Amino acid sequence: MAYGLLKGKRGVISGALNEQSIAWKVAALAHAEGASIVLTNAPVAMRMGEIDKLAQDTGSIVIPADATKDEDLEKLFTGATAHLGGKVDFLLHSIGMSPNVRKGRPYHDLNYDWYRQTLDISAMSFHRMIQAAAKADALADGGSIVGLSYIAAQRVFPGYGDMADAKALLESIGRSWGYHLGISKKVRVNTVSQSPSMTTAGSGIKGFSGLFDFAQAMSPLGNAPTEDCARYVISLFSDLTRFVTMQNLYHDGGFSSTGATPGVVEQYGSAE
Ligand SMILES: NC(=O)c1ccc[n+]([C@@H]2O[C@H](COP(=O)([O-])OP(=O)(O)OC[C@H]3O[C@@H](n4cnc5c(N)ncnc54)[C@H](O)[C@@H]3O)[C@@H](O)[C@H]2O)c1
Repeated sequence: MAYGLLKGKRGVISGALNEQSIAWKVAALAHAEGASIVLTNAPVAMRMGEIDKLAQDTGSIVIPADATKDEDLEKLFTGATAHLGGKVDFLLHSIGMSPNVRKGRPYHDLNYDWYRQTLDISAMSFHRMIQAAAKADALADGGSIVGLSYIAAQRVFPGYGDMADAKALLESIGRSWGYHLGISKKVRVNTVSQSPSMTTAGSGIKGFSGLFDFAQAMSPLGNAPTEDCARYVISLFSDLTRFVTMQNLYHDGGFSSTGATPGVVEQYGSAE
């Protein structure tokens, strides 16, 4: 059921690769809630993905942009404001990739060129994207920006490798921009820390299905589905959350506050 939460709003959504992508769900729901949107993804991903179908379904256009390239991002925001007929009310950063994780390099044996790429693609791109939008004067006053994060920013999950460092940086960038844009434009900036989710990025992590099941067993509400992540993000884009900013918000079924659950503990108990 749609509530018209984003009626009349304009947005830019990055990171929709296929139907499993968190950004895909956000785009579909933003459209259903009345927003006009522009989609973006890396040119290489657009060749592999199915983004044109999403564009058709949501009446949007796709502007290719590698989020590590300032000139692409500049074109993205000038193109988006021209197409949407005004400034952008909401912006989703849903981008992550680690060559080290993808190629199985553990945290104690990182390739530093790849490490740089991890940070550039998965974290610095959040800064770049916001800076490009601000410089193009593409952000509407009172708007909302969300980036997607993971709890490995706070706690060690060994298989997550250097992505943990990227997420810590991403969350810090969100806080810092939240301050600056709050002062200048009443724009809020938050990160949403999502449960493990069966997407292309998620499944690329070593031992992912075990991690998924562990998180499921450790979360009183169970792992949060990506559709519900989209609902939460939409609430942050809406006017219902106009004073929520500079936060890292857990959307994880309670995982982050749970110390132990009987289902997990009983695997270690003696047979008394
Ligand atoms: N899947 C999970 O378990 C999980 C959990 C918490 C947070 N997240 C985060 O959610 C976000 C979205 O990931 P997802 O799970 O939907 O997977 P996904 O693979 O569907 O999305 C990742 C996106 O990043 C894009 N991308 C990669 N390099 C890029 C570049 N240089 N420029 C522009 N775009 C680029 C990809 O094309 C893809 O669309 C990521 O930040 C991810 O870390 C995922």
